[in-house]
Amino acid sequence: MDAITVIRAKRDGHALTPAQIDWVVDAYTRGEVADEQMSALAMAILLNGMDRAEIARWTAAMIASGERMDFASLPRPTTDKHSTGGVGDKITLPLAPLVAACGAAVPQLSGRGLGHSGGTLDKLEAIPGWRARLTPDEMLDILATTGAVICAAGEGLAPADRRLYALRDVTGTVESIPLIASSIMSKKIAEGTGALVLDVKAGSGAFMKNLDDARELAETMVGLGTDHGVTTVALLTDMETPLGLTAGNALEVRESVEVLAGGGPADVVELTLALAREMLDAAGLTDADPARALADGSAMDVWRRMITAQGGDPDAALPVARETHTVAAPASGVLTRLDAYAVGVAAWRLGAGRARKEDPVQAAAGVELHAKPGETVTEGAPLLTLHTDTPERFEAALTVLAAEDAVRVEPAGTPAPARPLIHGRVA
Ligand code: URA
Repeated sequence: MDAITVIRAKRDGHALTPAQIDWVVDAYTRGEVADEQMSALAMAILLNGMDRAEIARWTAAMIASGERMDFASLPRPTTDKHSTGGVGDKITLPLAPLVAACGAAVPQLSGRGLGHSGGTLDKLEAIPGWRARLTPDEMLDILATTGAVICAAGEGLAPADRRLYALRDVTGTVESIPLIASSIMSKKIAEGTGALVLDVKAGSGAFMKNLDDARELAETMVGLGTDHGVTTVALLTDMETPLGLTAGNALEVRESVEVLAGGGPADVVELTLALAREMLDAAGLTDADPARALADGSAMDVWRRMITAQGGDPDAALPVARETHTVAAPASGVLTRLDAYAVGVAAWRLGAGRARKEDPVQAAAGVELHAKPGETVTEGAPLLTLHTDTPERFEAALTVLAAEDAVRVEPAGTPAPARPLIHGRVA
């Protein structure tokens, strides 16, 4: 077997054989297939696609490249959520403790942000003392005692994906449904959860800009999960405007704590509850009532124990940016557009995200929204507040917010485009 034959086969539009897939994934993980060869293959896959059997085999080969976790010793059923990523998507923070408060165990292996979309670990690291890296034993112990853990995936989990994802990131080969689906599902299946709910986002702030692509991605991932014995369901959700009223690490932690305290923005609460119901159903806990667990404080109790178990202080003050800048509404009327991608890029440029994997992030940087599409705004009144420790970044953030039709205000009475928060469900 050799890399050039495999690359040529996919370049010429053929399906790869199971033996070719097993070999190339294994040889790449061992360093025998070079980065430039894998980049060529990734580009051929992006251009020519893979059929269902190829995607299943590719996913299995990535799982087999590393270790698999096992939560069979836990007395509770395990259930997890994965979001394909968006702007202001802090849902994991209230969701994991909420679902644990309802009787499930939530082993949430999360990632860091890259580009305009944020990462759960960066958000939680805004909490003084909180630690993302845990040993497998620590993870199991926290799961057993609190019911929920949010931490970084260990080096041994799907190492083929770790290498390949970094390569795709710098070779323009991220946006391929077979590669995204196999990347996400190999990690989730190796993680060993019994049930999985996918939040597949569609819109300007998501990987998938339109609903048809999001549905195809969701169907591919649900098929992969089901074939591997994981009860898998997907919700198709909107990412045309940011979720909630904040994008940025500490800002999003603050908003998540508001949700756990029974308040918070309506869209964040709605999506948290919808995903919680799906996770509990998928785990067989059909009698649980997540709305009650939010209202009676039991989800907040789990949050506090979970943060404390990972070295964090749930009562510590969150970092506050040294500088803020207010963006005023450009006219009076109805806000009909506040573009998720533009807000995400603005938060990133303010320091909330990173351009390269090794870059640090500013805990306090980000964008705060004072209105959402459909609401009335008054000319000159605050529309957005930009937060950063490095004020020389304001200009770059303002440029993206001024361009690309990021903000649109139309005369009073104009209906905002009716976009539901949840577009559909795939099971
Ligand atoms: N997240 C992943 O883990 N992999 C992808 O390919 C895209 C998003």
